[in-house]
Amino acid sequence: MSSQPWLHQRGAEVQEFGTVRQFPLGLSHDARLYSSQRLNQVLADTQILYALYKKHHWLMRGPTFYQLHLLLDKHAGEQLQLVDMLAERVQTLGGVAVGDPRHVAEITSVPRAPDGAEEVPAMLSRLLEAHETILTEAHDAAATTAEMGDDGTSDMLVSDVIRTGELQAWFLAEHLVDTPLVRA
Ligand SMILES: [Fe+2]
Repeated sequence: MSSQPWLHQRGAEVQEFGTVRQFPLGLSHDARLYSSQRLNQVLADTQILYALYKKHHWLMRGPTFYQLHLLLDKHAGEQLQLVDMLAERVQTLGGVAVGDPRHVAEITSVPRAPDGAEEVPAMLSRLLEAHETILTEAHDAAATTAEMGDDGTSDMLVSDVIRTGELQAWFLAEHLVDTPLVRA
């Protein structure tokens, strides 16, 4: 007997991306497959939004640096919770969640930001647009997954993805109001 671990193991792929296993959830195969596909799109875009929040948290600058630096990190943390929730919903339905960032990049519909830094209002606008992309997808997916009987997915999209996204979008948008700070 040896306690040497078996290292460098490789194996066959046991479930292909884009398929769902049979789970006894009272939902049809088609409903679970459809929900998994819609969730993976929202998941990929949410992973990109999370990364954009971190990028802009780091690259922030100017007189409102500190407040935006902190706000964007708070939003990033909340988006990261959504990433985990969405991925685990895909798994709950018997699917395969998109995980590798290179796979995420192939799937996302959020445009790529420049590798460098943009002006502050442009960074905030970019985040707002990513929010709207996800919100539009989530509204549509919430309605259609509910029609197919997947109330759990629909509820998550409304109660978690949409409500969190709407609130974060409000906090961002208020930073783009050109209002006097000292004299009215
Ligand atoms: Fe940080």
